[in-house]
Amino acid sequence: MPRKLFVTTALPYANAAFHIGHIMEYIQADIWVRAQRMQGHEVHFMGADDAHGAPIMIAAEKAGKTPQQFVGEIAAGRKQYLDGFHISHDHWHSTDSAENVELSQGIYRALKAAGFIATRTIEQFFDPVKGMFLPDRYIKGECPKCGAKDQYGDSCEVCSSVYTPTDLKNPYSVLSGATPEMRSSEHFFFKLSDPRCVEFLREWTNTDRLQEQVANKANEWLGEPKEGEDGLGDWDISRDAPYFGIPIPDAPGKYFYVWLDAPVGYLAALKNYFDSGKAAANGSSQSFDEFMADADCEQHHFIGKDIIYFHTLFWPAMLKFSGRKTPDQIHVHGFLTVSGEKMSKSRGTGLSPLKYLDLGMNPEWLRYYIAAKLNGRVEDVDFNPEDFVARVNSDLVGKYVNIASRASGFLVKQFGGELNSFNLGDGEQEWSPMTFHALAARESIVAAINGLDTGRALRELMAVADFINQRYDAAKPWELAKKPEAREQLHAVCSDAVRAFAVLTWLLAPVLPATATKVAGWLGLPQPLKLSDLDGETPALPTQVKPYEHLLQRVDPKMLDALFEPPAEARPIPGGEEIAAEIKIDDFARVDLRIARIVKAEAVAGSDKLLRLTLDLGEGRTRNVFSGIKSAYANPSDLEGKLTVVVANLAPRKMKFGISEGMVLAASEKDEEKNPGIFLLEPHSGASPGMRVR
Ligand code: MSP
Ligand code: ZN
Repeated sequence: MPRKLFVTTALPYANAAFHIGHIMEYIQADIWVRAQRMQGHEVHFMGADDAHGAPIMIAAEKAGKTPQQFVGEIAAGRKQYLDGFHISHDHWHSTDSAENVELSQGIYRALKAAGFIATRTIEQFFDPVKGMFLPDRYIKGECPKCGAKDQYGDSCEVCSSVYTPTDLKNPYSVLSGATPEMRSSEHFFFKLSDPRCVEFLREWTNTDRLQEQVANKANEWLGEPKEGEDGLGDWDISRDAPYFGIPIPDAPGKYFYVWLDAPVGYLAALKNYFDSGKAAANGSSQSFDEFMADADCEQHHFIGKDIIYFHTLFWPAMLKFSGRKTPDQIHVHGFLTVSGEKMSKSRGTGLSPLKYLDLGMNPEWLRYYIAAKLNGRVEDVDFNPEDFVARVNSDLVGKYVNIASRASGFLVKQFGGELNSFNLGDGEQEWSPMTFHALAARESIVAAINGLDTGRALRELMAVADFINQRYDAAKPWELAKKPEAREQLHAVCSDAVRAFAVLTWLLAPVLPATATKVAGWLGLPQPLKLSDLDGETPALPTQVKPYEHLLQRVDPKMLDALFEPPAEARPIPGGEEIAAEIKIDDFARVDLRIARIVKAEAVAGSDKLLRLTLDLGEGRTRNVFSGIKSAYANPSDLEGKLTVVVANLAPRKMKFGISEGMVLAASEKDEEKNPGIFLLEPHSGASPGMRVR
């Protein structure tokens, strides 16, 4: 019976491009999804951007954009990553969508009607300049224990003590610098402490929906039932305006906290996909509502270990008590580290997914490597460059691809590309040991992929490849080729190897979809590849082979050096403009900086930004330079006679007011509105016009 699968990956925050950790999650889910499709199941694989919340609202404001514009631009950048790594979501949507408003509000109304919503007035810091309540992470101050300055509201980085924002001494808003005020506001709560909820979750988390480690974690949170005590507190689901989110019905100025509408985004994506006719095109004859109510529909969420809480407690409870079906399986993975280093939220790691693709590195190398390292448990996975090169080159290329390139040559040259005849009847096994071996391994390999233990699947698969290569070597086809009487044997060995290679290709197809498609074309296999093609007495194995074409290159270790070249990215400074990408000393030496005397400084008629400077660089002539520093110098003539620093070898630039022959150096904030100061550089006394600055 084909299963009906609704599969999701976690919805990434729409405030940054993907990092390699996201790609790992997509690769894991995509391999599983492709394997299910190959087993004939009906799969609907959804992704979406998580667009709402205060951080995105604030980031958009900083960028001078509306939140919608801001998340729209991030969304537009998704495709190159997803296509680039062969990630096959059937649909990609957004939590900032009409479907999500309707579904989130509907779920809320149902929860309210069932008595799961409470209101309480809480006290919270408010930024009087910004006119908004401050999330904890936007409040800083002095540590109440050790007095260290500029500590966050939850803990001190200097003495490690933990506290709440109200404990901070001299607190200030990170957004405006203002001193926050305590203000009270009514908040909405989801009553997770309701006995119905606790009882439901205790049962729900103790089924095979969760991996053992995940169930243990959930049970810790749920706590052992004690007299008159519940393990769970109520969940604050509201935020006050201004907020980028979904309005709470009948509560003006109140919005759902982003984590309420984020998982609902899974359903919103699916609804948009059904309503737009894409689901029908993908084999569903149901409507969204029918599909969601269908007892046979399975709901699978792939997530990382940091968001278990939301997916094993809040989300099932929201669904259950709004009268919906709950998820069937939560598949949790650990984190990707790179050479043992954790990924930083703001910087990612040295492994940029786009750089990987731009360098021409094959996405299937990474898919293979990640698959080889994942085992279906909640363990971190390390990307190690040497290990990566070794696994791809010696296993994938050295063992698997190698079979095809070796065996096909004799078949093309000596047998016109025809394979010998093959069937699974008695007696043939002797002639086709490699194919039999591969076919016999497939059940266990498919089971491992289904159970997300791709590491085991690939180990078993490579063991089959080893067997094939050993048998092939032992038969010494290069010697058989010299003996006319061994012609039948040569034909059998090479045919067997190519058939076994085809079986391995079927099994690798979820991991290496593009390579599998190439092989299918090369060997004339039925497409798309289905695992049932290998069943029965007459599996759809190849009967012919065309001249060998390159299937998959080896990794050049130099590519990894290029991939990890030091900071290609700019480096952020807390609260300031980021440090630009690293350069070499030669790069700097190309900029010729000179001391210049300001001979004349005057306003430019028709410009409110520019001053016209006449500069002496000791060249025996003066230069004309326009500089956007007018706002800082109300009396330009004050500058006359002073020394400053000029970029002397900048290409002359033609401007509306004349030609500018250089650029003077001045310090300023990037965000001029925040700090509208421009400060011209001036050398210490003793410098004279024409001296080089180095
Ligand atoms: N927006 C929330 C998820 C909402 S789901 C309704 C979120 N976004 S995220 O962008 O921070 O993370 C998205 C997914 O990427 C999560 O599953 C997270 O665990 C995963 N990863 C983030 N960093 C990761 C690694 N270093 N390694 C592997 N996965 C990582 O959380
Ligand atoms: Zn401290």
